[in-house]
Amino acid sequence: MGSVIVGTGIAVPPHRVTNADLSAIMDTSDDWIRRRTGVGSRHVAEPGIGPSDLGAAALQAALADAGIEPGEVDLLVTATMTPDQFAPGIGAVVQAKAGLGPVAAFDLRQQCSGFLYGLDLADAMLRSGRARTAAVVGAEVHSGYMPFGTGFDVLRGLRAEPTEADRAAATASRAWSVLFGDGAGAAVLRAGDPATDALSPAERTGVVASRLFSDGTEFELIQVRGLGFRHQPYVDAEQLAAGLHLPEMNGAELFRRASIAMPAAVRAVLDDVGLSIADLDLVVCHQANERIVDVVRSSLGIDAEVAPTNIERYGNTTAATVAILFHELRLSGRVPSGALVCFVAFGAGSHWGALLYRQP
Ligand code: ACO
Repeated sequence: MGSVIVGTGIAVPPHRVTNADLSAIMDTSDDWIRRRTGVGSRHVAEPGIGPSDLGAAALQAALADAGIEPGEVDLLVTATMTPDQFAPGIGAVVQAKAGLGPVAAFDLRQQCSGFLYGLDLADAMLRSGRARTAAVVGAEVHSGYMPFGTGFDVLRGLRAEPTEADRAAATASRAWSVLFGDGAGAAVLRAGDPATDALSPAERTGVVASRLFSDGTEFELIQVRGLGFRHQPYVDAEQLAAGLHLPEMNGAELFRRASIAMPAAVRAVLDDVGLSIADLDLVVCHQANERIVDVVRSSLGIDAEVAPTNIERYGNTTAATVAILFHELRLSGRVPSGALVCFVAFGAGSHWGALLYRQP
């Protein structure tokens, strides 16, 4: 009785920032960003808009798509690495903003694998009978990380150039700041038909199987070292001066690990149920870098038709990428009845995995 995705929705802030816009506030170029990452533009939220706003809007769109009233949802799973505020998490905020009842609301901290972990958790709760209608939301506002200062005024058309100091700070961040974008995606799931349990994995519908992994020895590949309770006080001027509130990323090593771990996770989950790569109709891959997806494709022997991308338009929206891409593929008719989809992600922690889903 694998859980069935009955609705999806997305929300992105209206302001779109192109690579050319970024090259006005730091030393970079459209050519470098496109060639090394595949990103062409990303959406940037206004100050005051948090992931709970985007997440609630995406969830409301998913509920409308499913034809389900907010009051029917009895489980909410949210995932973000950029919460509205340090504590508490966004789960209850999304619950209230989306107009859900006083349901159980989880907060996941699995970064780029957050939505995948959320699907797995929702499926387990639905299978066990603990919930009947579950919502999974991935939402990020990465703009808060960006050390652009007056560069944001340039992006918003309020001044012609950033200060020299802000241009230098933005340039120092360019290896990671050009990658990320703001956005949210949501899916609504319902428990599947128990009669389908008797079917072979090749015939089963809904969530067919899932494999999740973590490896804390890779914790330092991408992290924000400051603003935590190993520090006393947990935030101070010294941490800010040292830039410990900014992401630190070992891009080359992350690239290598994601390129190996994602195909291995796809193979592992297929092996678990005796299916093969040739059975897959779609691979919905985390969108961190077009070149990583290229390596995943060649490692699995699949093409861009099977493993499409949308990173060109959104950048890396971390917990939201897989949800946004799946929503767009559904809308464009790429998930017909019977289609076997593999969701796969790799993110900070490290956390990664793959989940098989067959559209009823
Ligand atoms: N514009 C212009 N030049 C740049 C930029 C930029 N935005 N960024 C870096 N450069 C320069 C560097 O300074 C360097 O110059 P140098 O050779 O003179 O020192 C040169 O370009 C090459 O830099 P590299 O870092 O070696 O570039 P690389 O080809 O490795 O690409 C990248 C970097 C895009 C970050 C890549 O390693 C990558 O995508 N890694 C994976 C990132 C990832 O997956 N992140 C998120 C996963 S987890 C999560 O999402 C939470």
